[in-house]
Amino acid sequence: MDSGKPSITERFAKAQHAFTFRDFILLPGLTEVDPSEVDIETRVTTDNVIRVPFVSSPMDTVTEDEMAITLARLGGLGVIHRNCSTEEQVEMAKKVKRAESLVIRDVVTAEPGYAVREALALMRKYEISGLPVVKEGKLVGILTGRDVRFANEDDLVGNVMTKKVVTAHDNITLEQARELMHEHRIEKLPLVDESGKLKGLITFKDISLRGKYPNASRDKVGRLLCAAAASPFDEERCMRLDKVVDIIVFDVAHFHNKKVIDAARRLVKKLSANVVIGNIGTRQAALDVVSSIERVNALRAGIGSGSICITTEITKAGAPTLFAVAQAFDALKELGSDIPIWADGGITSPGDVALALAAGSSAVCIGNLFARTRESPGSLVAIGGQYYKAYRGMGSPSAMEKRHAIDRYASPSKGIAEGVEGYVPYKGDLATMVNELSQGLKASMGYMGAKNIREAWTKAQVAWVSELGATETKAHDVILPTRGPT
Ligand code: XMP
Repeated sequence: MDSGKPSITERFAKAQHAFTFRDFILLPGLTEVDPSEVDIETRVTTDNVIRVPFVSSPMDTVTEDEMAITLARLGGLGVIHRNCSTEEQVEMAKKVKRAESLVIRDVVTAEPGYAVREALALMRKYEISGLPVVKEGKLVGILTGRDVRFANEDDLVGNVMTKKVVTAHDNITLEQARELMHEHRIEKLPLVDESGKLKGLITFKDISLRGKYPNASRDKVGRLLCAAAASPFDEERCMRLDKVVDIIVFDVAHFHNKKVIDAARRLVKKLSANVVIGNIGTRQAALDVVSSIERVNALRAGIGSGSICITTEITKAGAPTLFAVAQAFDALKELGSDIPIWADGGITSPGDVALALAAGSSAVCIGNLFARTRESPGSLVAIGGQYYKAYRGMGSPSAMEKRHAIDRYASPSKGIAEGVEGYVPYKGDLATMVNELSQGLKASMGYMGAKNIREAWTKAQVAWVSELGATETKAHDVILPTRGPT
């Protein structure tokens, strides 16, 4: 009986090709673009632009505050992992937001009645070197390292603080602030209103950092951009993060799930931060998600391509990153939407980044490569005369064990691990890694003839390469001192 529907044999025989990085090369096109002229600035969400298209994965061996601060300073974006208590995650996000700013608004202050001991504890906690002293909101002094150096820990702040404080009005420009601080040889300039109420603080450190990191990713008031991961079922965590971060990443292995979509739909209405939805792997998932959730500020695409993923190995379910990105891009085009897409999982080289962008993504999410750097959490491990850092999947047994102890929303609905844990070779500073990725990406885009990421979506031409051919694309028939015989 012919039902008009394809038979199982036909469905299998005509199945789509779930292509990914190793399947393709980029064909060199007619170019007028020199790599040095290529602009890799990108929209990481509908409301945020960053200077390099690199996002660090929300994994506990990749992104804590140090990675997020350094990556934002280099022009990318860090997503703080959620394998910790809400309290710990919020504290890490606050450190990023406090790392530098034009004007600090949520100033940490002391009161004249505090003991020096309490003030020192605050300075240590927030890693700051001085505290404005306020009484009923009005500035009455400032406590600096110099003031406390010879003080007794039991002394009262009011007795040891500097009472004559140089202040400025809230509307002072950065240049005027710099001059005033230079003139008085001071490091901190409290801003006050007509009634003497403390309105903010400018520090010399922030002014100098601004010059040092001109490409940094910043929010509207000059603080570093910060993202954090959460489950859409964890409303409490999301609401607390919403007060601190710019971007909340709904971090779900398989977002195309009715319950997950419903939870996210409800929660998005309560959040003011930009929201990134993922992970998704198919055209249908992108269509369903974008049409059911009122606000989606970016999509995260790719299931099973991550270097520590064994989802596809175990379950046979997966959507390789390049395929998932292309599917999402085409779906968004059908909807007339230009929501940015993150290509997530499997990035091993600048060429992979270039392919991911060519397939329609605006940024790439990187775990493995960034876990190799000094700024990822954890210390160095020496194995056979080489240094390594630990790197593990968030679905690995040890990561899951930790999460289950503290996050009831991640209770084990699946009784099987979908990630592995191991080591990656240590590669030094993140800045060097980001620079190598950026330079390699610009060279790729030069070959494509694309002077920016938007152009890569239309100008890139790709070709299949056979498995055998792929081996020819690497160095071969030569002994490399760093790699041994190839
Ligand atoms: P790379 O290739 O950079 O990929 O290591 C990082 C991405 O992998 C995802 N991820 C996982 N996927 N099981 C998975 O199937 C896991 O345990 C796991 N942990 C992380 C995640 O999307 C990350 O950004």
